[in-house]
Amino acid sequence: MRQTKIVLPDSEIPKQWYNIMADMPNLPEPPLHPGTKQPVGPDDLSAIFPMSLIEQEVSQERWIDIPEEILDVYSLWRPTPLFRAHRLEEALGTPAKIYYKNEGVSPAGSHKPNTAVPQAWYNKQAGIKRIASETGAGQWGSSLALANGFFGLDTTVYMVRVSYEQKPYRRVLMETWGATVHASPTKITNAGKKILELDPDSPGSLGIAISEAVEDAATHDDTNYALGSVLNHVLLHQTVIGLEAKKQFEIAGEYPDVVIGCCGGGSNLAGTGFPFLQDKIAGKQVIVRAVEPISCPTLTKGEFRYDFGDTVGMTPLLKMYTLGHDFVPPGIHAGGLRYHADAPLLCQLYHDGIIEAESYGQTAVFDAAILFAKTEGIIPAPESSHAIKGAIDEALRAKEEGKEKVIFFNLSGHGHFDLAAYADYIAGKLTDYEYPADKIKESLAKLPQI
Ligand SMILES: Cc1ncc(COP(=O)(O)O)c(C=O)c1O
Repeated sequence: MRQTKIVLPDSEIPKQWYNIMADMPNLPEPPLHPGTKQPVGPDDLSAIFPMSLIEQEVSQERWIDIPEEILDVYSLWRPTPLFRAHRLEEALGTPAKIYYKNEGVSPAGSHKPNTAVPQAWYNKQAGIKRIASETGAGQWGSSLALANGFFGLDTTVYMVRVSYEQKPYRRVLMETWGATVHASPTKITNAGKKILELDPDSPGSLGIAISEAVEDAATHDDTNYALGSVLNHVLLHQTVIGLEAKKQFEIAGEYPDVVIGCCGGGSNLAGTGFPFLQDKIAGKQVIVRAVEPISCPTLTKGEFRYDFGDTVGMTPLLKMYTLGHDFVPPGIHAGGLRYHADAPLLCQLYHDGIIEAESYGQTAVFDAAILFAKTEGIIPAPESSHAIKGAIDEALRAKEEGKEKVIFFNLSGHGHFDLAAYADYIAGKLTDYEYPADKIKESLAKLPQI
């Protein structure tokens, strides 16, 4: 019988996270204070983050220990299996070997709990009572609600309105784990009110929801803020994915030629790819590639400049590939990929030519999702389906070239709460949005000059 999945025992859960800052040829430029435009210090961040996470944000230690209590929670679903996609390979008739890590097996259904759990735990240690955050697709909000629940913290989630309407059951999931959920923009924060004055029908965006959550945290002493992607410590926590995968590839007796991940803010791609980039920086041949939507093409069409992390301009300025902080992407079903920029670490690596990026339209991505569902059985999240599309195209190129490549992608989540998107696809109602060039140009013109 052929081997389909490689499963590690609990004892193989990584005991340390990998910090790529120890190995990067060029570190990202420092975050700047939104008012003074000077580099931010720990005190600027301490109103909304615990000091332990601020330390991780700036640490250049290669390995950071994972506390025992976090490992205990990780063991509820980690290590996640590495699958060989035999049936997909057969359907494509490719000589390539396709492997994928299934992060959809976590209780919330995605990779997001890998960082929600440590963020909740470090906040609990710091005496915080409540965490406010944003969510796009609902994956991050549900992961934070789950994690906070484990450690007895309250959760307030600002959920992007378009997702709130498309995914009512994600909201119920968050509420089941104890969170309070608002459709963003709301009328309860100044940031939300400001947006609604300009556009009462605003579909919302991750940038707007972040402004609301940051304002909530900054104006309440017992409340902190948590971000589900972009920041260095978030990417750090996600490296458990790639570290496990390396052990699993060792068992398989393989090493990937190409590592692929979808890219919203960059955390699952970074978590999957960074441990392989450690080898690449040391001289090994491996390609790490981001896949993003054509309608929100941050790496492939954005500009590498300082921009705010949120829409209103409350967060520090970060050096990122950005489409402009007030750019509101079309309401594609991959809500988690509708972010105007990407993680500074990932952007620096892209700028330095260490990672690659490509973009696809929504219909092509769903064609890939359906093929995956029919061959491998799992209904993928629309976000993860971008990585599937990238892997399929890579496998088809390998077929043309007659090469037996090893392709590895991260299945960042399942799509059980995304069935409205699948219903649209089946009914032939899925629309492809063009690359919104004019709106992006307009938005980029408003960026601060640094
Ligand atoms: C399933 C899934 N994959 C990917 C992403 C994109 O985030 P990131 O690029 O930080 O991994 C999201 C975001 O919500 C998601 O829900």
